[in-house]
Amino acid sequence: MTTRRKFFVGNWKMNKTPQEASAFCEDFVAALGTNANCDVGLAANQILLPPLVSRFRGIQWFAQSSHWAESGAFTGETSVGMLRAIGVSGSLVAHSERRQMFGETNATAGMRVAALLNAGQQAILCVGESLEQRDSGEWNEVLKSQLAEAFDATGIKNWGASLGADPARPNLTIAYEPVWAIGTGRAASAQQAQEAHALIRGWLSDKLGADLGQRLRIQYGGSVNLKNVRELMEMPDIDGALVGGASLVAKDFAELVRLGSSG
Ligand code: PGA
Repeated sequence: MTTRRKFFVGNWKMNKTPQEASAFCEDFVAALGTNANCDVGLAANQILLPPLVSRFRGIQWFAQSSHWAESGAFTGETSVGMLRAIGVSGSLVAHSERRQMFGETNATAGMRVAALLNAGQQAILCVGESLEQRDSGEWNEVLKSQLAEAFDATGIKNWGASLGADPARPNLTIAYEPVWAIGTGRAASAQQAQEAHALIRGWLSDKLGADLGQRLRIQYGGSVNLKNVRELMEMPDIDGALVGGASLVAKDFAELVRLGSSG
C-alpha cells in the first residue's frame, strides 16, 4: 500500500505586510521544530515572497496563482519563470476565490497546471462544489467535470514524466475545497470529505493509472482548524490540508501541522 507523505499548505490570501510575514516565519519555524514528518508550505502574495524564500528555506513557498505564458502582455499576472527564478516551489491553481471573482475556468486552470509541471514546479489544483451543487446531489459530477476539463486543457500526455522525479512528492496535488466550507467555519465532516477524496482518487486512477492515482496527494481545504484537523487527517484518502484562516497565526498553524501529521 502506498503511504503518502502528508502535505500542509497555509494560504495567506491577501494578508500580511512584509514585516508581519517575517515575524510569522520566525515564530512558525521555532514552533514547528526540525522533525516535522510531513511537507509544509505557505502560499503568499508575490510581493512577500522574495525575502521569505531566501530566508526561510525549510518552508516550501508557493504563489497563489501563476500564468501559463512565459512572458507577454498579461497585466497583473506572474509567470512561472519569475517564480522559479526566486526559488518558489510552485503555485496554487484555480482557488475558488479566483474562480468566483476573477473568471478562472477549468480550461485556464489546466493551462496554468501545464506551465508549472512543464517547468518542474509544483501545482496545487483546487476543485470543489458550491453549496447549491452539494445540496442538489450533483457534487460528484461537478468534481469529475472540473478535473476532466482541467486535465484535458493541460495537453499533457505523459503524466508519469510530468509529475517529477520524487515518487513521494509528485508535482501535482489536488486540493478538494468545497466552496461552502471556505471561510465559513463550516468544514465538511470527515466522512463527507473522505467520500469526495475517494471519488477524486478513483477519477485520478482511471485517468492516470492506479499507481499514479495512489501516489498523488489530495488535500482537504475549508475551515480546517485545531479542533477538526485530526479527525480529517485520519481518513484514508486525505493527505494534508490547504488552510486559510487558521494559517495566519504562527503558533496555531504549527500546532495544526503537528496535530494533523501525528496520526
Ligand atoms: P479557510 O480557507 O481555511 O479559511 O476556510 C481555505 C482556503 O481558502 O484555502
